[in-house]
Amino acid sequence: MGNILNFYRDLGVEYLNTKLNKKEAPRNAGLKCLKELKKEVEKCQACELHKTKKHYVFGDGNPNASLMFIGEAPGATEDEQGLPFVGRAGQLLSDLLKEVGINRQEVYIANCLKCRPPNNKDPQENELKACRPFLDKQIELIKPKIIITLGRFALMQLLGNDKKITQSRGLVFKQQSYTVIPTYHPAYLLRNPKAIEVFVNDLKTAKQYLGD
Ligand code: URA
Repeated sequence: MGNILNFYRDLGVEYLNTKLNKKEAPRNAGLKCLKELKKEVEKCQACELHKTKKHYVFGDGNPNASLMFIGEAPGATEDEQGLPFVGRAGQLLSDLLKEVGINRQEVYIANCLKCRPPNNKDPQENELKACRPFLDKQIELIKPKIIITLGRFALMQLLGNDKKITQSRGLVFKQQSYTVIPTYHPAYLLRNPKAIEVFVNDLKTAKQYLGD
């Protein structure tokens, strides 16, 4: 698959239509706004993570955002504050948004998981599955034009488990109701500062697609 993507990228192809994920039906299709959805999330006991978390981390930002970011799962600082991307990786994200002229208040930021996995363990299949209807409903309510996936878990959730970050980043995936731009997770950038330039370029690509 990677070779095929590289082949198309070398040809200068920017868009690849990919199959839509088969999504589970939202648990509560009647929800009309994010506030109602947040209340639903805060009652969730669908997996074990609710037992160890301090706060549910629902998501934050402009409910009418055209640009949405999806990360992996809350870390320790997010768990403390109940807000996404407020730790070191979040600070870097804020700084890089600022660098390209994107106002953090104007975008919406959410995670695949709404509860922190203890010891920052990778999200497990059952946890992702349990949380997925909430993410789908957030996307449905926010209706972003562009979704930037941060790291491999968000990428796989949106585009399928066969997607690899190294092969997908740099490509733009047109879906039925939004366009996905995969990029690195800000925590990866903390460990690999050389990748920051590429990340910034991905943010600029998103801006171009938004017509900014
Ligand atoms: N990493 C994530 O994926 N999400 C957060 O909210 C914080 C760190």
